[in-house]
Amino acid sequence: MSETTTKRYHPVHVVIHWLMALLVFLMLGVGKGVMPGVSPEDPQKVGILQSHAYIGGAIAVLLVARLVLRYTTRRPAPADAGSAFLNFLGKAVHLLLYLMLIGMAVSGFGMFQQANLSAVFSGAQPYPSNFFDFLPRIGHGLTSWLLLALIALHVGAALFHQFIRKDNLLARMWFGK
Ligand code: HEM
Repeated sequence: MSETTTKRYHPVHVVIHWLMALLVFLMLGVGKGVMPGVSPEDPQKVGILQSHAYIGGAIAVLLVARLVLRYTTRRPAPADAGSAFLNFLGKAVHLLLYLMLIGMAVSGFGMFQQANLSAVFSGAQPYPSNFFDFLPRIGHGLTSWLLLALIALHVGAALFHQFIRKDNLLARMWFGK
């Protein structure tokens, strides 16, 4: 376990945090807003899913790198939100964010295997007519909603610290001395 005497997260951790934020935002936006509207017969459908799978895989790799960094580099002391309950909530949301992202990656990989997506991507097999024929699709959909709710809480907490408690918490997840 790392010491807790530094003011900021490690710069590589900072890069990974914001890169993951961008990619997860993109994945949730495209997954909820674009993918359901493109029919399986549309020639663009395979390309969209292929990008989705590759970015999902990249998120999984970044997540592993981030967890390694989290436990091998020094990080700031736990933030104080002003009450024991909020401090507990903060820790729980962070843990659940990690767990939900692992859930998205594992269920995504489950669909990849069960639907034989490598054959779909190479054109050797047609696009599956309905991914709900594969059990991990249910977990992927439910987890995506939980992830969205957790992200809303996470962003809300960051804004609460920044503008109501005015403790400049965001600086801990940015570069500097
Ligand atoms: C952290 C990574 C990921 C995120 C945030 C994510 C997000 C999403 C979202 C939001 C949806 C729509 C869910 C719904 O509204 O029910 C979706 C669908 C889907 N995702 Fe992911 N995903 C991730 C990783 C993956 C991976 C690695 C794969 C591997 C192939 C994958 C394959 C799929 C498939 C096959 C669908 C269903 C498409 C359909 O029903 O037509 N996802 N994803």
